[in-house]
Formats: sequence, C-alpha cells, structure tokens
Amino acid sequence: DALLSRVRESLADGFLPLQVFNDADVYDAELERVFGRSWVFLAHETEIPNPGDYVLRRIGEDPFIVSRGNDGQIRAFFNSCRHRGTQVCRYEKGNSNSFRCPFHGWTYNNLGNLTGVPSRAQAYPQMDLADWSLHQAPKVDTYHGLVFACLDPEAVPLSEYIGDMGWYLDTNLLAHPDGLEVIGEPLRWNIEANWKLGAETFCGDSYHLQHLHRSVFEVGLVPQFRGKAETRRGLDVHVSECSGHATVIIRGPEEARIFWGSPDELKAQYRQGELSDAQFSLARRSIFQVGTVFPNFSFMHTSTAFSVGGVAGSYFIIRQWQPKGPNRVEAWNWTLVPRGLSEEAKQIAHRAALSQVGPSGNFEAEDSVVWEGITRVAGSAFARRIGAKLHYAMGLDDGSAQVMEDFEGPGTVYDTRLEDGVQRTLYRRWLQEISRGDGTAV
Ligand code: FES
Repeated sequence: DALLSRVRESLADGFLPLQVFNDADVYDAELERVFGRSWVFLAHETEIPNPGDYVLRRIGEDPFIVSRGNDGQIRAFFNSCRHRGTQVCRYEKGNSNSFRCPFHGWTYNNLGNLTGVPSRAQAYPQMDLADWSLHQAPKVDTYHGLVFACLDPEAVPLSEYIGDMGWYLDTNLLAHPDGLEVIGEPLRWNIEANWKLGAETFCGDSYHLQHLHRSVFEVGLVPQFRGKAETRRGLDVHVSECSGHATVIIRGPEEARIFWGSPDELKAQYRQGELSDAQFSLARRSIFQVGTVFPNFSFMHTSTAFSVGGVAGSYFIIRQWQPKGPNRVEAWNWTLVPRGLSEEAKQIAHRAALSQVGPSGNFEAEDSVVWEGITRVAGSAFARRIGAKLHYAMGLDDGSAQVMEDFEGPGTVYDTRLEDGVQRTLYRRWLQEISRGDGTAV
C-alpha cells in the first residue's frame, strides 16, 4: 500500500516513516507475514529438560504449548482445543502426561494426540480420534539449546535461517563444555512501545549509550567506564546484507573478557574445541556484545557492566520482544549461565543482569521511556499528515564508516560503532517480509 511504498523509497536513502512504529495495518501485516513465516524463539531447552515438561509461549500473538513429549521430542502445540477452541493448558509451566480441556474435557497426550473424549460412545460413535490431534507448529528446532519454531512449512532450516549470525552467537552459546542453562524464571514486563524498537536497539544502537545512559556511566555503575560516557571507535558488525540479523561487539585488549565472575577454571574450559581460532580470539577480547536475530530474538553479553559486592563479573541474557499490539510489547528476559558454575557465581551473574537489564534495571528503565515516547508520536495524526520520517542514514555512503575487509568473521563489518547499518539490515529484512505477497519485488 502507500505506506509500504513510502517505506521502500525512504529506506533506500536511510530513512524510515515514523508511522511504522504505531500503525494497525502494519501490525496486522507483521503478524501474518513476519511472525507467520519467520523462525521465532520460544524457550531454552533447559526450561523443559524432562519428558512431560512444558511452558506456554507465543508466536506473534498466537498461544503455543512448548512441550517435551514422553518420547523426548520438543513440539509446539497451538493452545486451542479442537472441539470449540478453548485453551487446553492454562498453567504457565509444568509437567504433565496430558492436557485436559476445561470446557468439555477432551484430553490430549503430550504428543498432541487426542486420547479421551467424555461420553464418546454416545456422543461421537463415528469419531476417529486420530483426526483431532492438537494443531502444532510445522517446524520446531534447536540451536545450541535455543528452541525456535516456524509456522511456515516451506521455511528454510533453522541453521540456514540463522546463517552467518551463528558465527557470532556461538561465541556466547558455546561458552562451557556442558552448555548453558537458564537460571530462575524468565522475567516479563509490558512496555507501551512497538516491538521493533527493542529489536532495533539490540541490533546495536551504540549511539544512545553516550547520552541516554550517561548518568549510569558517570555514577560508576559500570566500573570500567567510571566517569566516561564515551563512544569509542570499536567493532561494529552487521551480518550478511539482508539477513536481517545484526550484532555489535566491543573489543577490549587481549583476554579482556571476564568469565562469569570468573573462576579461572572456566577460562580453561572455554570451548575452544568448538570455536575456530578466530572466534575464540574474538570471544576472549569481547567485553560487550549485543545482537538481534530477526525478527524478535535478542541477546546481550557484558563483561563490564556491573560490580556486585565488589565482585566484577559478567552476564549473558537472551530476550524476546513479544508483540501485543501496534503499541505494546511484552519483554521476556532470561539469564543464562554455564552449568558448571558454582551456585554463588550463578546468583551473582543473575543479580547483576537484573540490576542492569531487568524490568527495573538501570539501562532498561531509561530505554523503555524513550521507546514509549516514540510509539506515542508515531500514532499521532500530525506525524501521519506530514509523513514524518526518521534518520537511519548514519554511515551510509558518506565515508564515515569503513568496511573492515580483512575481518575474520562473516558479514559486513564496520570499524566504528557510529553507523546505522545494523538497524538498516533489520528493516530491509522486515520490508522484504511484509512486502511478500503484494506482488512487489524488494
Ligand atoms: Fe475443549 Fe469442548 S472446547 S472439550
């Protein structure tokens, strides 16, 4: 439609109509074409380690039961009874062999098969139960413990979807020989903002650190940057033109990374065997990394951002931006820690993560305020009337951002954090997806 045409024209020059952050038609298209076709993050495997374990999650706004069946396989069932549509599971998590619908009592096992219908002989003498299994997401797969699902049966495999981003993601996910696990429950909170704003900020908006979060640096909550609200030249990575995924890595000196509070044995155990030399070298220098896998899965690692009880350390969080309307998002946040870490060190990492990026964290609260403000004005009549557009052109064709041709990792890598390519790649993918089906080549 007219708005999509405007987006297409604007994005080529590095601009984006403000309206896309609060528009009912755009949102409907996103639910259908973005969340209906993309691989969407649902859970971490360690949340459902045993047969019968399940958690409730959403793809777009659609409710799913992410269940590990008694056969050990993970599936995502549409949480809707085949009889009249009632939610068959209403508990956020649990362990069960079956799901019994509260309305009339149809019962499904944890493989999704309909196994029980009250008064079946009298009420449904001809019924073949095999025809009435729970609907399920056609594709479910895991990536180093991360569970994703996709509603498009024709979608590419998950590993191909993640593509080059895996090279960078792996430096966090393969951080310990026994893998990572979720500590505590995922935190969730509502923000009156469009879901894309969180996703794009986590692509790597380094530009805002020096201003929005200035006070956090100045008061010394980030010990290594006490008093310096700086944006140094660093390493800015945006992976694969049009992949839609992006990450930013800030490199410190050799071996600058702190490993979860940092028992030396963890450093020794760091999974060099599964990382290339280049990945391992980058991982040991990475003091901060943030990234987004299109559309709404983000992650963040930091070795700098806290001191709990005088102990410096690091944390790694993963995040889902759960859409709940054109102007509302539910943020989900998980803290991941190496399984082999001591309980004390796990708790330190968890508390540190909460103090920074939990719902009342120093950084999170500041980000939420500005995202909500953007969303409010994006829905204003005046913004629509004047066709207000936003500036995403930093580093675009003006020579200020140089591609690092000799960087070892895949994707397009820039030598500065002062460029918007990381956000543009997200929106190019977004435009590609919501344009599919309208006959327009993007
Ligand atoms: Fe589920 Fe009737 S709606 S049994």
